[in-house]
Amino acid sequence: MYDGEPTPGRNDECWCGSGKKYKKCHLRIDQELQRLYDEGFEVPFRSLLKTQKDIDGIKRSAEVNIGALDYVGEHIKAGVSTAEIDKWVYDYCIEHDAIPADLNFEGYPKSVCVSINEVVCHGIPSEDEILKDGDIVNVDMSTIKDGYFSDSSRMYCIGDVDPELKRLVEVTKQSVQAGLDAVKPWIPLGDVSHAVNKVATDAGFSVVEEFGGHGIGLEFHEDPFVSFVAEAGTGPILAPGMCFTIEPMVNLGGPEIDMTDPNGWTVRTKDRKPTAQWEVQLVVTEDGYELLSW
Ligand code: MF3
Ligand code: CO
Repeated sequence: MYDGEPTPGRNDECWCGSGKKYKKCHLRIDQELQRLYDEGFEVPFRSLLKTQKDIDGIKRSAEVNIGALDYVGEHIKAGVSTAEIDKWVYDYCIEHDAIPADLNFEGYPKSVCVSINEVVCHGIPSEDEILKDGDIVNVDMSTIKDGYFSDSSRMYCIGDVDPELKRLVEVTKQSVQAGLDAVKPWIPLGDVSHAVNKVATDAGFSVVEEFGGHGIGLEFHEDPFVSFVAEAGTGPILAPGMCFTIEPMVNLGGPEIDMTDPNGWTVRTKDRKPTAQWEVQLVVTEDGYELLSW
């Protein structure tokens, strides 16, 4: 087929390992992908389509990710250091037979990213960084369990937060929901990007261009790259079994970012105005999506 992989006979077992006959399983999906490919659309390689076994594994990983972020939500408050949050996440993973995917990822030194106020992403936890009243904080974590990856992040408002920052946090969450609402098979990914972007920009905020979501499951970062500034009608076609994140970074001020921090990781807004991000992970289903991690 278009992806160079062999295709079973109609009565042979499906390539996905379901044990079903090909004609009762992926045949129709594969035919549709081939048809779209022949028409000139960008379509995902079938290696990106998760099998039921993969999805079950990703869900077990996601349970740990969700549980750790719930734990953070129950304990985060003014006076806590970001290093303490890192320890909560590390301990939670280990207690649940999982590994924090961030730890040692491309040399990243901690188990979680904690990004406060003007930090766009990849804030490195530190003993010296203490949360204070009025902060808006993103905690972004990823889990590896039995080789399967999950990834999500949430915003936490510390104490009394300025109403405009609360609105930034809420609108960013709504933009993720709008993206989710758009997800279904056979549409281009850019339709999802556009749905996210519209909610953020209609509210007067800007969206970071350099970072986006990603495929995930068997690896931390897989194809496709999920832009939140892409146009509707562009990008690869979505197909059942694709698993990816929606994780826009939404800025109160301009969209420009500053990546010059000497630690090589921490990204800030160029204008030093606050920024927010929520991240969810989903799998595309026959008629929409299933949320895996949030
Ligand atoms: N969790 C981030 C994501 O959403 C990746 C963080 S990589 C790290 O894709 F090394 F900074 F942890
Ligand atoms: Co991610």
